[in-house]
Amino acid sequence: MSIFRSILTGTGAYLPDRVLTNAELATKVDTSDAWIQERTGIKSRHIAADGQLTSDLAIAAARAAMDSAGISAADVDLIVQATATPDQTFPATATRVQAALGITRGAAFDIQAVCSGFVYALATADNFIRAGQSKCALVIGAETFSRILDWTDRTTCVLFADGAGAVVLQAEAASGHDSNSRGVLSTHLHADGRCNDLLYVDGGPSSTQTVGHLRMAGREVFRHAVTNLAAVTHEALAANGLSAADLDWIVPHQANIRIIDTTARKLGLSPDKVVTTVDHHGNTSAASVPLALAEAVADGRIRRGDLVLMEAMGGGFTWGAALVRM
Ligand code: UT7
Repeated sequence: MSIFRSILTGTGAYLPDRVLTNAELATKVDTSDAWIQERTGIKSRHIAADGQLTSDLAIAAARAAMDSAGISAADVDLIVQATATPDQTFPATATRVQAALGITRGAAFDIQAVCSGFVYALATADNFIRAGQSKCALVIGAETFSRILDWTDRTTCVLFADGAGAVVLQAEAASGHDSNSRGVLSTHLHADGRCNDLLYVDGGPSSTQTVGHLRMAGREVFRHAVTNLAAVTHEALAANGLSAADLDWIVPHQANIRIIDTTARKLGLSPDKVVTTVDHHGNTSAASVPLALAEAVADGRIRRGDLVLMEAMGGGFTWGAALVRM
């Protein structure tokens, strides 16, 4: 029986033009640049223009990823898009992306795991490829969180932002599991639905027939994030017989610099192995990991052959990790 592994052959990113600074936010709610930077590490974030939809961001990031992989629309046979801010309740935003990119083969669907969405989407596409059901997948994380923020709530509106990132995964025949060969080595997903009410949106089609606004018990989420992200990272390394010292890079979910630093410290990882974009991206939910990955690939930090660990945690709770040899 053939064994396939997923090779990550392209990355792409898109950020809306509009930059919203902490100073500007301080004119709208009772906050300060100093508080936001000290508690989160965020200095500025990007916000989608009026009329600019999640699909617009996703399409731009997906195009960039396809260009970097050197593939065309005819090559793609799967689109998995992670988003908690779809254009519409249905159809899936992935199908709008599919149409705009001129892709007509295979499946296109959305995944909803909030900030862990990209890791969930990557795991899903990787499993399609391993099963021999897909040869070339576009995996996208795209969000317009600005649309579900309560702009009068200083505890949340200073944190989240808009953006999109994407990768291309391509099937390659493999003889077995080898952590030195290129590809997705393993993915690890978790959820704990008992924590629904710590991070949620207070609306939805079935409950209120409204979109709702994001609500978060920040301190509680912080506590769970630090524990769960360190645990899932250890799980991913152990599953491959590797240790933190083997990692070239960690690309964490960009929620808060204090969570990122604490997790890295727990793993004994030096800060210069950690990709951080939270200072200029804010928390872009499902887009945060692929945006950070694309930035570090584009500026030459992450190179072919590097061992990269991606991890994320979000509403649900959901959390997960993916270990990839680039
Ligand atoms: O992406 C999904 C996962 N999400 C996360 O990982 C987010 C996790 N949580 C966090 O990142 C942090 O908990 C926050 C950044 C949300 C908050 O930081 P914190 O150090 O946990 O602050 P806190 O919630 O304990 O609030 C401390 C104080 C409070 O005032 P009192 O009660 O001490 O008087 C807040 O009301 O800071 C106040 N505060 C603010 N002050 C100025 C809360 N938001 C703001 C603000 N500006 N924007």
